[in-house]
Amino acid sequence: MNEQFVKIPAEQERSYPITIGTGILSGLLARIERLFPKKSLFIVTDEKLVQAGHLATLTGGKNVPSYAITPAGERSKTMATATAILEAMEQHRLSRDTVVIGLGGGTVGDIAGFAAAVFKRGVPVVHIPTTTVAQADSSVGGKTGVDSSLSKNAFGCFWYPSAVFIDTATLKTLDDLQYRSGLVESVKHAAIADPEYFTFLEKNIDMVLRRDTKILEQIAGWNCRIKASVVEEDPTEKNKRRILNYGHTIGHAVESACDYQLLHGQCVAIGMIAVGMMEQALGMVNDDRIERIEAILKKLGMPTEIPSDIKMEQLMDLLLLDKKAVGKRPWFVLLERLGRVYCKDGRWAHEVSQEIVRQAIEKSFR
Ligand SMILES: NC(=O)c1ccc[n+]([C@@H]2O[C@H](COP(=O)([O-])OP(=O)(O)OC[C@H]3O[C@@H](n4cnc5c(N)ncnc54)[C@H](O)[C@@H]3O)[C@@H](O)[C@H]2O)c1
Ligand SMILES: [Zn+2]
Repeated sequence: MNEQFVKIPAEQERSYPITIGTGILSGLLARIERLFPKKSLFIVTDEKLVQAGHLATLTGGKNVPSYAITPAGERSKTMATATAILEAMEQHRLSRDTVVIGLGGGTVGDIAGFAAAVFKRGVPVVHIPTTTVAQADSSVGGKTGVDSSLSKNAFGCFWYPSAVFIDTATLKTLDDLQYRSGLVESVKHAAIADPEYFTFLEKNIDMVLRRDTKILEQIAGWNCRIKASVVEEDPTEKNKRRILNYGHTIGHAVESACDYQLLHGQCVAIGMIAVGMMEQALGMVNDDRIERIEAILKKLGMPTEIPSDIKMEQLMDLLLLDKKAVGKRPWFVLLERLGRVYCKDGRWAHEVSQEIVRQAIEKSFR
């Protein structure tokens, strides 16, 4: 037997700028052209972004090849859509010298990133996120992917953007429920990483709800700093990146149990409070954090209790199926205090006994 080894040099360091502003969309095409001289551009967006006029603002009447995902939203986050995008790129005779621009929410961003990662074995992607979820979360961190008929984000890879541009003015056209529920990721960031940010959100919540762009710029800055610092430390979610899943273990189970009738942010809101019940049962709470988190989630109009039509046993079964469960047992990100995640023996996520989980879930029912 002849064995040979191929040693590939370590991947080069990856860093990318995140630019935040209001009303910057119309100048971005020229900026991206300057960033990538001599490259062809291809825009991935969706029908609602087109209807809202954002694609036209970005292109400014210039003829840039694009693909608008139809229908907009999660239903289209499939391999079939990714294939259609890749073939559209081929039809435009695009080469390796192409930059993909993802203009839209997390659905567009995840597919655009995925398409960029596999087109001609990988071309750069630039994200222009346009939802509260995408501006706070999905555009930073490099996760890309599509759903299968069996599960969410079943296929994908890490593909870091070359640049991210956040225009808070794009949020003006976003549907109210989408807007408010996406802000749950901001509450999550504050709760896990920064008490000062949490107080800022509490103080400015009315301005946030009025979509004040100056406040939204500050929020975007905070979110990106927090997410970036976590991702920099643990890009591929071996350990610390898991703290971004605070509220998500139960949140995902609720999302699935209600058959996606509630939005992701609504389910994470329920999950954050349920985890609070767990912290309480474990004797970890000696401050008013649960009340404060609940108050801000309520201001956002989010549910904080599990809907009564969901069955306890169904939730317990779903929790045991959680794809991120270690050794088939669910794990939870717990707060030590507001702005600080509990870490033990270098681990940021913890197994909790089934009895405590059951107790916390029972308390979380409406
Ligand atoms: N990659 C990651 O790290 C990561 C993180 C969080 C979420 N996600 C993924 O993101 C997806 C959810 O993203 P989302 O919540 O942004 O939803 P979305 O992208 O599906 O957008 C929600 C709806 O809002 C519309 N829309 C978007 N921007 C708009 C605007 N400015 N004006 C008017 N309408 C607008 C869209 O067309 C869509 O109909 C999920 O697939 C999730 O898995 C990925
Ligand atoms: Zn989330």
